[in-house]
Amino acid sequence: MLTADQIDSFRRDGFLVLERLVSDAACDELLARANELVDAFEPDAHRSVFTTDEQTRTSDEVFLASGDRVDCFFEDEAFDPEGHLIVDKRAALNKIGHAQHDLDPVFSAFSRAEPLPQLVADLGMDDPKLLQSMLIFKHPRIGGEVTSHQDATFLWTEPNTVIGLWFALADATLENGCLWAQPGGHEGPVRERFRRADVTDPSAGTVFDQLDDTPLPELGDGSMVPLEVPKGSCVVLHGALPHGSLPNRSDIPRPAYSVHLIDGTAAYPEDNWLQRPEMPLRGF
Ligand code: FE2
Repeated sequence: MLTADQIDSFRRDGFLVLERLVSDAACDELLARANELVDAFEPDAHRSVFTTDEQTRTSDEVFLASGDRVDCFFEDEAFDPEGHLIVDKRAALNKIGHAQHDLDPVFSAFSRAEPLPQLVADLGMDDPKLLQSMLIFKHPRIGGEVTSHQDATFLWTEPNTVIGLWFALADATLENGCLWAQPGGHEGPVRERFRRADVTDPSAGTVFDQLDDTPLPELGDGSMVPLEVPKGSCVVLHGALPHGSLPNRSDIPRPAYSVHLIDGTAAYPEDNWLQRPEMPLRGF
């Protein structure tokens, strides 16, 4: 599916932009399904704020249990200081995660559609497993920043095999908070590993192991480039590539869907935050 030039550029840059890989209709269908899931979701039952703030993530058992569920995570700016929702439920969500690619038929079909199996095979993955998915809303005005990070920090395998497929469900621009990435940055070390502090006790939370002191590049600094892409585009991300996105302060939504794959031939540690005790990982 990929040309030799595209494979070379992925190996060189650590990312690859495939413009308009998916039809507008497929994007719209996925977003409509996401809104149905949100409408059916009861905020009080599972309220969980998602930010890249370490404290929030560390203390959130809902997050740790979401590896084999479909949960909704809210923006931190959606609540007043007393914890009351100050915007409409639909407009308050940061993301849906993390197993809708296996649990929901619309998400499963999108995540396993042609030409994705061949795309992943072309990148050298022997035994692809769809590990995790996220529908990221990035709503107008309150869509939060995703600070510079490497996906391998959160989706650790030995050796590192994670590949992210990031789909723009609407045009992603500088204005509404497109991805930024550091070309070639995947050649650098994975700086941190995020893991469960105690595999037998989720209430013990999570820790970051510092693996390397080299600072990650910051969004908007000279070493990172914005990836402005039209609706339906797929950005393929190497697991060690520093990337992120700035807040959406515009009036335009920037919805995206990402699926992260790992190679089933690699070891998957039992202290990774994401565990699937009841549901074995599936491929295409
Ligand atoms: Fe990421």
